[in-house]
Amino acid sequence: MQFAKRLAPLQSNVFADMDQAKARARAAGRDLIDLSLGSSDLPAAEHVIEAIAASLSDQSTHGYLLFHGTQAFRQAAATWYEKKFGIAVDPETEVLPLVGSQEGTAHLPLAVLNPGDFALLLDPGYPSHAGGVYLASGQIYPMPLLAENNFLPIFADIPGPVLAQSRMMVLSYPHNPTAAIAPLSFFQEAVAFCQQHNLVLVHDFPYADLVFDGTALPSVLQADPDKSVSIEFFTLSKSYNMGGFRIGYAIGNAKLIRALRQVKAAVDFNQYRGILNGAIAALTGPQESIQVTVETFQQRRDAFVTALNRIGWQVPMPTATMYVWAKLPERWSQNSMEFCTQMVEATGVAASPGAGFGKSGEGYVRFALVHEPAILKTAVDRIAQYLEAH
Ligand SMILES: Cc1ncc(COP(=O)(O)O)c(C=O)c1O
Repeated sequence: MQFAKRLAPLQSNVFADMDQAKARARAAGRDLIDLSLGSSDLPAAEHVIEAIAASLSDQSTHGYLLFHGTQAFRQAAATWYEKKFGIAVDPETEVLPLVGSQEGTAHLPLAVLNPGDFALLLDPGYPSHAGGVYLASGQIYPMPLLAENNFLPIFADIPGPVLAQSRMMVLSYPHNPTAAIAPLSFFQEAVAFCQQHNLVLVHDFPYADLVFDGTALPSVLQADPDKSVSIEFFTLSKSYNMGGFRIGYAIGNAKLIRALRQVKAAVDFNQYRGILNGAIAALTGPQESIQVTVETFQQRRDAFVTALNRIGWQVPMPTATMYVWAKLPERWSQNSMEFCTQMVEATGVAASPGAGFGKSGEGYVRFALVHEPAILKTAVDRIAQYLEAH
């Protein structure tokens, strides 16, 4: 059997290797503390579950859902956006429901790239951004994110010939995996750059609410209020702890929304209406649960970073996301994969190797704060023993 060449770059996956290392650790009887996946352990709100449960017994929700059937959800998303970021959004032409934001960001390159075109991606970055470009037979130009630049890309470093063949740039702040944030001035620079070079500007924004210490972060559309080149992706996975429900949405330039809708029309029939009803309840109902989620992750961040610093592993205190991005001790600076596989087998603590997020992620490891502070402290105790033994 022969498979398409575009599958080849999707084959190397350090997360699959980590999965095997975790399985070996389990088989050896280790008590696993899995900090390798950014899947929230907190529950969705009660009123959201009730809305979904009520939909299940309503037979009118059981059929295929075409675009017109998503109107109530699109209206709720537009109203939510306008209230949060102060920019009017047309629910008819500027909002598109998605089966999770990952689905949308991975499908968008099919609507924007011709084979061989470049997409400018963050390195390290979220794996599905690259995956979508490969599936569209595009090429990737990785924009390196360095600590000395606050993990923001330097647009002036992109070579002219690459730029000439580029059609899109993908940004995502607060950033997974580095937990970096970006100010409005950075987005203004990005919008001007994309306008000048005729690029689509994609902003993946899943951690819009997961920001600590009372900081509020900008939407890319605040730097592009006419929506001239930009499209932004949102999800209910993080703010509302609904990752398993697979619901997100895109907001932005009407032509981009229409193009992505054309791709999706060939692929899916939208999310189940009951899930959309739950999402409407989340977006329009009481918002207190977001504060609880943010406070929970802030306490975990404080506990974990303090404990790591106490054992002599100095890491910065992140201002957003559910991750800690830790520079590895010198011995592992070129082998984050070895560090993570050996550590999980020796201690049961699983983290994600930085190299899995791109070449510039090498030398780092990402911890997802998806356990209670007491468990995080136990994890740090075990990490300390591992570091001492090596
Ligand atoms: C940057 C980024 N984009 C997208 C996603 C996936 O979001 P969703 O659950 O909406 O597909 C994640 C999840 O961790 C993420 O970190």
